[in-house]
Amino acid sequence: MIDSTLLNLLRKRRSIRQFTSQPVEADKIDALIEAAVRTPSSRGRRPWEFVVVTDPVLLRQLGKAKENGSAFLTGVPLAIVIAADSSKSDVWIEDCSIAAMVIQMAAEELGLGSCWAQIRLRPRNAECSAEQYVKGLIDLPESHVVECIIGIGYPAEKMTGHASEGLPFGQVHRDKFRN
Ligand SMILES: Cc1cc2nc3c(=O)[nH]c(=O)nc-3n(C[C@H](O)[C@H](O)[C@H](O)COP(=O)(O)O)c2cc1C
Repeated sequence: MIDSTLLNLLRKRRSIRQFTSQPVEADKIDALIEAAVRTPSSRGRRPWEFVVVTDPVLLRQLGKAKENGSAFLTGVPLAIVIAADSSKSDVWIEDCSIAAMVIQMAAEELGLGSCWAQIRLRPRNAECSAEQYVKGLIDLPESHVVECIIGIGYPAEKMTGHASEGLPFGQVHRDKFRN
């Protein structure tokens, strides 16, 4: 088995939804931001916008973005809302997804835990989308779109990496698709 720093991080990575109250240090936040803006984007268009949130009141409000799947944001010391000016690129979703995953892996490498909260295409309730709600909270212009929020902090739960035996290697095909 190859011993690689990145693969070893991937081997232990899990989504973390419970965090200690320890704030994320300013230099670590700067490192996460650097990681985000270094990510590749289609045609180098860089359509993303990153809103870095540490205000506890705002974090609690972000935690109410959806009925299910966003409550963990209430307990995070740091969240990064990943949005985009969709007029800059027809593949802004791919660009934002790459940035989100790079932020998550950079967090892992810095000893932090993180989890993705899906906002795009998700309802908040019968009247309002999660996206409209989040846009209002962070004053995002109407022209922009929100993909997701990454909650980040020091883990207060222990999650073990996925065992190799359970990985879906059967979904990997060589040369041609074979069932
Ligand atoms: C596109 C995407 C959307 C996700 N949305 C949410 C979400 O809204 N809320 C949440 O708690 N977890 C969310 N997750 C985390 C997944 O539930 C998690 O990655 C999955 O269950 C596998 O667990 P693991 O990350 O520990 O391997 C999302 C992950 C991805 C990649």
